Amino acid sequence: MKFSHESIEKNPWLLIGLVLLVVSFGGLVEIVPLFFQKSTTEPVAGLKPYSPLRLVGRDIYVREGCYNCHSQMIRPFRAETERYGHYSVAGEFVYDHPFQWGSKRTGPDLARVGGRYSDEWHRTHLDNPRDVVPESNMPGYPWLAKTKLNPDEVIPKMRALQRLATPYTEEDIAQAPAALADKTEQDALIAYLQGLGIQIKTRN
Ligand code: HEC
Repeated sequence: MKFSHESIEKNPWLLIGLVLLVVSFGGLVEIVPLFFQKSTTEPVAGLKPYSPLRLVGRDIYVREGCYNCHSQMIRPFRAETERYGHYSVAGEFVYDHPFQWGSKRTGPDLARVGGRYSDEWHRTHLDNPRDVVPESNMPGYPWLAKTKLNPDEVIPKMRALQRLATPYTEEDIAQAPAALADKTEQDALIAYLQGLGIQIKTRN
């Protein structure tokens, strides 16, 4: 058989085989280096594994479905960096399992919301957003302030992350429940929000 373009195009199985080969090669060349590049595997300066309170807050963020309206990924476009600050970089997400990038923005991106408002503002906003932003259509989450955390629940969460290579020490885990004593779900969620994106800060 003469090996020509025509012979490939007239033979679907050969075409499928060659397409798969080319696509897999292309995929490998793009994806494999990401596992070894410093810029994608090393945390940005100052980034620490989630503290127990922030870790629990992050799970509340996921449980309440905040990601349905909020992304956490600033794209490198002028319109985004002017509004939200420095674009997001891979090294900011190395301790996120799974990350909360999202793709839906009914509300603003939250990737750099840390430090933008006071804890008090967040308390009022989470209880009833319209008390601070009258035109807001974000739902209120008033039960968070009334629900105490169960401190022991953080241990299996930290163990799971330890298995995913988050560098928690045995001491970190042993001390974790004490850090959650008498805290509410709202305290945890606010701690989580206040730490978002603060390693790379270019505006306030
Ligand atoms: C139905 C969509 C929706 C959901 C769900 C939602 N939000 Fe919002 N959020 C908004 C909108 C719209 C705004 C802008 C108006 C405002 O500030 O209230 C906003 C604003 C915010 C802001 C202020 C951001 C800024 O830069 O001004 C924070 C913080 C926030 N939301 C946190 C949360 C958290 C935490 C949750 C989950 C508990 C959540 N949101 C769930 C729609 C939503």
